[in-house]
Amino acid sequence: MSNILVSGGTGFLGAHLCARLVADGNLVVCVDNNYTGSIENIEELFNRPNFFFIKHDVTNPLGKLTRHIDQIYNLACPASPPAYQGKHAIMTTKTNVLGAINMLELAKSNNATILQTSTSEVYGDPLEHPQKETYRGNVNPISMRACYDEGKRCAESLFFDYYRNEGVDIKVVRIFNAYGPKMNPDDGRVISNFICQALRGEAITIYGDGSQTRSFCYVDDLIEVIVRMMGSKRGFTGPVNIGNPGEFTIRELAEKVIAKVGGKSKIVYHSLPSDDPTRRRPDITLAKSKLDWEPKIALDEGLDRTIAYFEQKLGIGLGVLAI
Ligand SMILES: NC(=O)c1ccc[n+]([C@@H]2O[C@H](COP(=O)([O-])OP(=O)(O)OC[C@H]3O[C@@H](n4cnc5c(N)ncnc54)[C@H](O)[C@@H]3O)[C@@H](O)[C@H]2O)c1
Repeated sequence: MSNILVSGGTGFLGAHLCARLVADGNLVVCVDNNYTGSIENIEELFNRPNFFFIKHDVTNPLGKLTRHIDQIYNLACPASPPAYQGKHAIMTTKTNVLGAINMLELAKSNNATILQTSTSEVYGDPLEHPQKETYRGNVNPISMRACYDEGKRCAESLFFDYYRNEGVDIKVVRIFNAYGPKMNPDDGRVISNFICQALRGEAITIYGDGSQTRSFCYVDDLIEVIVRMMGSKRGFTGPVNIGNPGEFTIRELAEKVIAKVGGKSKIVYHSLPSDDPTRRRPDITLAKSKLDWEPKIALDEGLDRTIAYFEQKLGIGLGVLAI
């Protein structure tokens, strides 16, 4: 069993990852400033003797830990556009760049393996479809999204420099859209938005004409491959695409959600934000061959589980909003 630090551990993916690592018997130190994460996401872990939480902003060095750390998962970074851009943009770049440096230094001093959760956003609005790891991307460096896209690209560059120059054992995964329970209902990601709007009986908002595509990976599938990547042999650095190659238009997704929730929500259309990618689908050949992984949970099943979570979270189905 290992001593593992998870930065960004109170967020959507981080909380699932902490729960998995604790259940596997590891000692887990969750580090987060709770900007987009929440203590509620990890509260079930507080009575476990092998779980610790440190409130900390990763743009500052963490300081000396009392335990040796074997593995670091670097997840700290807001992942939804309203949380990372606009007035939060500079903080997002700092979190990506300074946060990566601080975690890489910690990995170096502990001789730990460190995994970076990069993103399909490094491909920008892709000119190659589906996207392979060899594709270098089409990112606008001065757009509203650049703090995230370029921040993540710089973090990847730092990871590979620490690997080449400092001998740090690195792993890089590029995550395509993930979804599932523990997403923040109000953080503006497409699946949580649609489900919450449908459950509240509100109109479903689509940005653009809804013909843009995305691929959605259920959280359990994603956590499994992240853990497999961490366990892969030294020197297998990635980057590795991880996601579900099933591709859906945003309009199809909205229609599916409305049908499943069974409400009467209408779809309303707003203008598309600038530099929003038009197509997204991972080529996961590398993850299949090197990590013996492919997603198991289809969108329909994942949506059912996620809708059930939000029904409970929003108190719908318990009659609270129905009065
Ligand atoms: N969920 C996805 O679909 C997706 C896709 C691609 C990449 N990723 C990456 O995976 C990681 C986790 O994503 P998520 O969906 O769980 O996002 P999230 O916003 O729910 O979680 C991010 C966590 O990082 C924390 N954080 C942000 N800035 C911090 C700072 N300066 N110091 C300490 N903690 C800080 C937040 O409080 C939050 O708990 C992110 O790095 C994200 O870029 C996620």
